[in-house]
Amino acid sequence: MKNIWIIANWKSNKNIAEALDWISKVGPNLPKRENFKVVVCPSFSALSEVKKAITVGNFPLIVGAQDLSPLGAGAYTGEESAELLKELIDLAILGHSERRQNFGETDEMLAKKVAQANAYSIIPVVCVQSSDTPVPEGCKLIAYEPIFAIGTGNPDTPENANQVAGVLKEKHGPAPAGLEVLYGGSVTSENAKAFIFQSNINGLLIGKASLDAEEFIKICKVMELI
Ligand code: 13P
Repeated sequence: MKNIWIIANWKSNKNIAEALDWISKVGPNLPKRENFKVVVCPSFSALSEVKKAITVGNFPLIVGAQDLSPLGAGAYTGEESAELLKELIDLAILGHSERRQNFGETDEMLAKKVAQANAYSIIPVVCVQSSDTPVPEGCKLIAYEPIFAIGTGNPDTPENANQVAGVLKEKHGPAPAGLEVLYGGSVTSENAKAFIFQSNINGLLIGKASLDAEEFIKICKVMELI
């Protein structure tokens, strides 16, 4: 049975109180199955409290970060290194197009971040904008996020996303444990099912619709239909 990943990317949203409110609503309402992997990626400022709340509640939620440093621990003011984040997270979203656009992130930086993540057993989720985007060595989880679909309410079609996911798998996989491809861009509880049911798609990376606890729970319940 294929893994189904549902990843909430909160981006630069939610203070600690808002984050904990979301965890208390979503945590107890998640479908529990070995192949369901539900991940929440808060801002760095909320990571520690979110991790604590999930542990105390014993919720089936994985904690991720939205980025990490291309460098190790040390004299790098302002950076969040994989070595230090490892206590809090099991996964990191890397190479998001918003980081490329707003913070000048390059393919070289992305490759270093992936290497750092892997060195500390953090799963890198590498975002690509098309099947032509370079993918660094050591990636087993790729998120296809076309720029026209991010935050626009204009998702790609499930059929096209499936076709791109297939090309990505041919080009970059299969890794020893298999390459998995997610879709992201204007996913909602209305369209989630159509994406998850595509044969090459292993899950969803969700921005805006993940912020609302009720909406996110609805999306997670779609996993039970598979
Ligand atoms: P939206 O779901 O808000 O379109 O954002 C997608 C995204 O960028 C997830 O990483």
